[in-house]
Amino acid sequence: MMNPIDVQFSHLKKIRNPYPNSCIQHARSLKSLLIWNSHEPNHCLLQTSQELARSLVQQFNPNIPIEEALTPPSSWYTSPDFLSLEFDQVFFRGWQAVGCTEQVQEANSFFTGRLGNVEYVVCRDENGEFRAFHNVCRHHASLLAFGSGKGSCFTCPYHGWTYGLNGALLKATRITGIKNFNVKEFGLVPLRVAIWGPFILLNLETEAFSQQGYDDVGMEWLGSSSKILSTNGVDTSLSYLCRREYTIECNWKVFCDNYLDGGYHVPFAHKDLASDLKLDSYSTTVYEKVSIQRCDGGEVQGQEDFDRLGSKSLYAFIYPNFMDRYGPWMDTNLVLPLGPRKCKVVFDYFLDASLKDDEAFVAKSLEDSEKVQMEDIVLCESVQRGLESPAYGSGRYAPMVEKAMRHFHCLLHQNLMNDFYF
Ligand code: FES
Repeated sequence: MMNPIDVQFSHLKKIRNPYPNSCIQHARSLKSLLIWNSHEPNHCLLQTSQELARSLVQQFNPNIPIEEALTPPSSWYTSPDFLSLEFDQVFFRGWQAVGCTEQVQEANSFFTGRLGNVEYVVCRDENGEFRAFHNVCRHHASLLAFGSGKGSCFTCPYHGWTYGLNGALLKATRITGIKNFNVKEFGLVPLRVAIWGPFILLNLETEAFSQQGYDDVGMEWLGSSSKILSTNGVDTSLSYLCRREYTIECNWKVFCDNYLDGGYHVPFAHKDLASDLKLDSYSTTVYEKVSIQRCDGGEVQGQEDFDRLGSKSLYAFIYPNFMDRYGPWMDTNLVLPLGPRKCKVVFDYFLDASLKDDEAFVAKSLEDSEKVQMEDIVLCESVQRGLESPAYGSGRYAPMVEKAMRHFHCLLHQNLMNDFYF
């Protein structure tokens, strides 16, 4: 007679798995985890959880040619342990795009956000200087600011402690009688913030904070493609138009993969868009942390308006989760993991100032973009459900078109193996 744990996993053993090192190995690891969990204290569980995630990383082999390579195992897209490792190794290290300068154009303005369990607030102080802090009150941990807005200080909605835009604690209410309390030690916890082009970057590392300038942030964030993007992919003369947000029931990487397939899915899933692109002109170039896909545009309605802006589309992917699509206008996509099978994608649209007042053009363009996003959401949610099926372990790459996707997977593997540090 099988014990309860064997019963729980017996159905997995019955599945014929073409890639035996993926699903079944994951199931075995989970089984060990459950057994260990029943006998050991919590720190062992945590350690085992990290070990499990690392064992999943090792199931991907970045060292074989794309023609022979398997895609990452489905567990990369479904495991909560794997996502925890991604937060620790990927999102909580190095520079992360969190927004654009348009969101805090004026002194005393702010916006808030969340990445994993990190709640942050970005603001411009009274001198216009960019600052960022953990958005957590030092009294009893209430979130301090919500959404976006403007003000000369942050007042906690719980008991009224008040902080300046430089993070200093200005007022701690009703603390008469408190001892050993140094107000200077209870300011907001700062985060490193930097600006590149129109983008705001944060560094969420917990190591000692430094007020030093970040002159080389472009190089740190983008590597050698910094120069290419600043001259070809990010046009700072474009003006900000609007933001759209989509919550999608899929792992964050499913959305990235969809962006990185070299236009492979476009003729099948975006038939209207396909007629505006010369898909056989697609080319992909990979750099250290960035890949750039290029595609020539076909004849489109209103072509004369675009002539001076060029009809080439450029799709830059900045590892791990930021995408910049340029030509004839620019939109950026920031993919934020909300859980193993949920993410939020933030689209910011920028447009040449001369076209901004053309309401019909703007409305039509946003409508077309919305249509493509809705088509992509259906695809991504469908892929997620397939990844969760016991029938799927790993897939294969189409070598001529999915180079950027392979590059993304290899970078992630390298990052999770701790082989590099951005
Ligand atoms: S939690 Fe902020 S003042 Fe009490």
